[in-house]
Amino acid sequence: MKQLKRHQLALYNGQDKKQIYVAYQGRIYDVTESRLWRRGMHYEHWAGQDLTQELPEAPHDEAVFARFPQVGVLIE
Ligand code: HEM
Repeated sequence: MKQLKRHQLALYNGQDKKQIYVAYQGRIYDVTESRLWRRGMHYEHWAGQDLTQELPEAPHDEAVFARFPQVGVLIE
């Protein structure tokens, strides 16, 4: 399990690295395999950051993370 700081997570934005990560409630998920996160973009939201505050705006809840592996935790 990786421990990433925000500036490290930022590289997993679908542009700078091959792997695409999104943080939610302190957990970091690998969404690289999702067609809906291609190139790091998901309906006006960018990967590589903590999107906990943005989830209430989505038409879905956190159940969408169920099929993606948690690869780490966000430590600061
Ligand atoms: C407000 C804008 C957003 C819209 C319009 C949106 C829309 C959607 C739709 C239509 C789906 C596929 C259907 C479903 O699973 O219900 C989806 C899946 C997903 N969304 Fe969002 N979403 C938004 C924001 C977010 C945010 C902020 C996050 C992260 C905290 C997020 C994470 C995900 C994930 C991980 C999936 C699963 C992708 C997959 O199964 O391939 N979404 N979203």
